[in-house]
Amino acid sequence: MEKYDELIDLALRRGFFFPAAEIYNGPAGFWDYGPLGVTLKNKFIQLWREHLVKRDGMLEIDGAQILPQTVFAASGHLEHFVDPLIECSKCGTFYRADKLLSEKLGRDIPESLSCEEFDKLIGQAKLVCPRCKGKFKPTKKFNMMFSFSVGPRADEIVGLRPETCQSIFLDFPRLFRICRAKLPIALAQIGKAFRNEISPRQALLRQREFTQAEIEVFFNPERANEFEKFDQVADYELVMQLEGQSKPKKIKCADLVKKKIVSSKLIAYYLALLQQFYEKVGLCDFRFRQLGKDEKAFYAIDAFDFEVKTEIGWIELVACNYRGDHDLGGHQAGSKKNLTVLDEGKKVLPHIFELSMGVDRSIFCLLLQAIALEKVGKEERLVLRLPPRLAPISVAIYPLLNKDGLPEKAMEVYGQLKGWFDVIYDSSGSIGKRYRRADEIGIPFCVTIDHQTLKDNTVTIRDRDSMKQERIKIAELVNWLGKKVCG
Ligand code: GLY
Repeated sequence: MEKYDELIDLALRRGFFFPAAEIYNGPAGFWDYGPLGVTLKNKFIQLWREHLVKRDGMLEIDGAQILPQTVFAASGHLEHFVDPLIECSKCGTFYRADKLLSEKLGRDIPESLSCEEFDKLIGQAKLVCPRCKGKFKPTKKFNMMFSFSVGPRADEIVGLRPETCQSIFLDFPRLFRICRAKLPIALAQIGKAFRNEISPRQALLRQREFTQAEIEVFFNPERANEFEKFDQVADYELVMQLEGQSKPKKIKCADLVKKKIVSSKLIAYYLALLQQFYEKVGLCDFRFRQLGKDEKAFYAIDAFDFEVKTEIGWIELVACNYRGDHDLGGHQAGSKKNLTVLDEGKKVLPHIFELSMGVDRSIFCLLLQAIALEKVGKEERLVLRLPPRLAPISVAIYPLLNKDGLPEKAMEVYGQLKGWFDVIYDSSGSIGKRYRRADEIGIPFCVTIDHQTLKDNTVTIRDRDSMKQERIKIAELVNWLGKKVCG
């Protein structure tokens, strides 16, 4: 847990993220991002827009977070969006039965087991409360929706959306019409989702309020293999761990389709786009894991989790689900509106393939992979090896000394760069200390103005990762940095 603990310490100390309502000891599972965290998150979202939404020509929406309860009756959330809850009969502490059993038995326990199955396993494993050794009451299913009423009469029950995609499903008929769209079409959205988790934990990894970036692809299931864009990725290899296998291996998209590991070219194409996005983000050690029957969400036909390996194990970043006609079928029945569309002259109720990304989780794992404690001579440095494009601050400007006209010259350089990059000016403490402060928040380039600058208008640029320096002309700085930061 060395890196995990370092990261939490860094996040609090430098304000990447910290608990919400901290001075009131606010409830668990709610986190605020500070300036560095927000910039990192914004850059991540910008990359998502460029490399998924715009690259594929998706349509983006921004839907309401509060929706009528009728939506969640039709979507199945009122009935199925539940976690197995156990309560200690002695001290009253609540736990998720599947998580506690998994820890005790050292294997995954599916959350979808029935209450009776959980009670049986708890008995067999002789599971007791980790806090007071008390016995557990029988397992209950706990619904994770936040529900309340709106208006002065409080007569309309609403819910905070537990997944952003519900807005996409509801908006689909209008968007399809007004955008004169044709199937297949992908709609995207970034926004907040809310889940009343029994045990929120591990900072940004399991929160009660979190940011999702969801993409829903609407298509005609009979024509999911008539998909020209697939040719762009046919030879591209996905890192896949199939059900029952213990290790991932690389499989070409064409083979995934041929061997029917995925049910269509369309699905293989969107999985490839997702992996390519995370390659751009700079994550390593990832895999798609094919989910078994017990692990799939209640609506999923085919399901793959995109996961990344970290010091604390494999973490799911994106759920990739073939949801069939569950969503439009449910909302068609619930709203009594016809949600079919015309495709090649025939009425079709579109099927949906989804890429449901956890943004906060992605950022947390990126930080976890980037953080490193290194020896530099006799000292240790903490460094955050974020890709330059995502680093919250791209460039730091330092006058070597606070005299001899160096601060004025450094301010001039700062003024030239700040319209182009996220840049800071820092003149306090020794240059070594300034480098350390920059390293731990991941600033990839530090520009120092020294006495030679006054003579020939050159500066040194120090690279965060190699710690090497080179000297270049001030007039070339914007271009040099532009290539390194924006690619
Ligand atoms: N939309 C899928 C999920 O939030 O899990």
